[in-house]
Amino acid sequence: MVSGAVFIHGSWWVENTRFMDRRPTFSHLRCRECGREYPKEAIHVCEFDFGPLEAAYDYNAVKEILSREVISQRTRSMWRYRELLPIDGQPSVGLHTGFTPLVRAKRLAERLGVRELYIKNDAVNHPTLSFKDRVVSVALTRARELGMDTVACASTGNLANSVAANAAAAGLRSFVLIPSDLEPSKIVNSLVFGTNVIGIQGAYDQVNRLCSEIAGKYGWGFVNVNLRPYYAEGSKTMGFEIIEQLGWQLPQHTVVCMASGSLLTKVHKAYQEFIKAGLVDATPASIYGAQASGCSPIVTAIKSGTDVVRPVPKPRTIAKSLSIGTPADGYYAIRTMQDTGGTAEDASDAEIIDAIKLLAETEGIFAETAGGVTVACARKLIESGRIPRDESIVLCITGYGLKTQEAITEHVGAPALIQPSLREFEALIEPHTPSTLN
Ligand SMILES: Cc1ncc(COP(=O)(O)O)c(C=O)c1O
Ligand SMILES: [Zn+2]
Repeated sequence: MVSGAVFIHGSWWVENTRFMDRRPTFSHLRCRECGREYPKEAIHVCEFDFGPLEAAYDYNAVKEILSREVISQRTRSMWRYRELLPIDGQPSVGLHTGFTPLVRAKRLAERLGVRELYIKNDAVNHPTLSFKDRVVSVALTRARELGMDTVACASTGNLANSVAANAAAAGLRSFVLIPSDLEPSKIVNSLVFGTNVIGIQGAYDQVNRLCSEIAGKYGWGFVNVNLRPYYAEGSKTMGFEIIEQLGWQLPQHTVVCMASGSLLTKVHKAYQEFIKAGLVDATPASIYGAQASGCSPIVTAIKSGTDVVRPVPKPRTIAKSLSIGTPADGYYAIRTMQDTGGTAEDASDAEIIDAIKLLAETEGIFAETAGGVTVACARKLIESGRIPRDESIVLCITGYGLKTQEAITEHVGAPALIQPSLREFEALIEPHTPSTLN
């Protein structure tokens, strides 16, 4: 093999130094509450205060390796930032994931009355069309490093799709546990990969609790339970890409939809890490959270001026992918929004449907219900003056529309039906103009 280059799936991934010779950048796990350090194992809570564990890095080592030039020469995937991801060796799962388009959304900007608007479009993320492919790529790469042969998750749908697909491609056994009333597309999109799909007759919180018990008993790699410190870091790559694709700048305002609240906190962590690594100037970057009104525990806390998140026992919304009544990172999401000068908003099902159609009709992007939540809430934040109209705004679109098509089927009309005749076609498109072909 050529020194300094790694051959991955048909593309030469050019390195400026040999990977194996470098100082490791991922150093340990650390409790977010008390700062105690832990080894890089399949653990996720602090033994002293039950605080969540988070990946920690040697930023001096990161700085020695990563520069704008080095990053921009690498393959266009989320792994171009791998020194800031919690793995020890080479990535082995999801090699084509990430580096999704950042679209300048001029027509939507006009409709919303703002100057500079972008869509970060993870509706076209590889391979399962949601941002969850980012978190799963990291979790399964780490699961393999830890010697696991079975991976699993508790999911509201998209995570299940991604674990199923990536485990299949990696040759790992997988189990995905979901609330049994999910959208049919989300279920088929897991079953097709030959995974073990288990529908639970209960809400997501109950699915999650069961998964914690299974993880304790069977020792499998549950990506969002015992592998959560690794899994969660994958979401940072969405933030890294936004900065790079904006020409190495922070957006002034970023709107993110929330279920557990993890993605929102990790987009912020990404912004902070690029500042720390000297890759971008520290400029103000406010982060805003979006939820559906039928399951908005984090937004409700923000609106009530508290950081105590009250669980929603029975979520009721078309945005099933965001229906987590007890959000694991709710407290940290609230702190992130407050610390950055952002805030939160929620949207009704009708507003979500309107927003899905608005995004589709202006930008040609078909988002799932979670994307509708982001656009609907951004609209409300702009209209109420909480996001200024003349500053840069990024909306994070996290999943593809065909996965939740039943939510809008009755709101998009039906095809016109005619016989295969030019006369009928003309009568249809020009009903008041006599045909010139007669
Ligand atoms: C499409 C989509 N967007 C956003 C989220 C929110 O993710 P988080 O739990 O990190 O807040 C989810 C979670 O399942 C999702 O499926
Ligand atoms: Zn602790």
